[in-house]
Amino acid sequence: MFYATFVKKMLQRIKAINKRKLLLAFIIILIAIQAIRIDKTNPSSESSKDFITVLNPPQEIASILATSCYDCHSNQSKYPWYTKIAPVSWWIKDHINEAREELNFSVWGDYSDKRKKHKLEECFEMIEEGEMPLTSYTIIHKEAQLSENQKKLLIDWFKAMEQNQQSDSK
Ligand code: HEC
Repeated sequence: MFYATFVKKMLQRIKAINKRKLLLAFIIILIAIQAIRIDKTNPSSESSKDFITVLNPPQEIASILATSCYDCHSNQSKYPWYTKIAPVSWWIKDHINEAREELNFSVWGDYSDKRKKHKLEECFEMIEEGEMPLTSYTIIHKEAQLSENQKKLLIDWFKAMEQNQQSDSK
């Protein structure tokens, strides 16, 4: 079969390439991709639409949200030094984009009532299931890790807010 012999030949060729050359190629690629920078400008947003401003949670809850969720789910992301290094930077930016799309606390005031209620429900579910904040984040940001106590505090508060939230669309 033509395809099988082709693959075999390619494999032989790859084996023949000197390991040093491979390493060199890898380094060159790693350097080259540094030119592709991520956009770190935080979109502007009105503080009057911010989740914490609108719902005015107790100070402790506000502070947990800011520490454990806002880096991804708001327009107030902070970018530590390692976000300068590709491809880690791409991966982090991807998380931020995806997270903002799902739930952006900075534009909470623009959400419809129905969406607000749904997002509040998702929030306590995600925390209950231990899915949020993302583990890949809390490994580096220890301060964002939720204690059992903090989890309970957040879950109870999100549940109460969800109960209060009207679901009629605006
Ligand atoms: C490191 C970034 C990061 C942090 C920190 C983070 N999230 Fe997320 N979150 C994401 C990403 C990425 C998604 C979308 C993909 C997914 O669902 O896994 C998401 C999705 C969600 C969703 C939508 C889930 C669904 O059903 O689709 C909710 C709700 C949520 N996060 C709540 C939170 C809350 C509350 C916190 C803080 C306790 C938090 N997140 C912290 C990255 C993050």
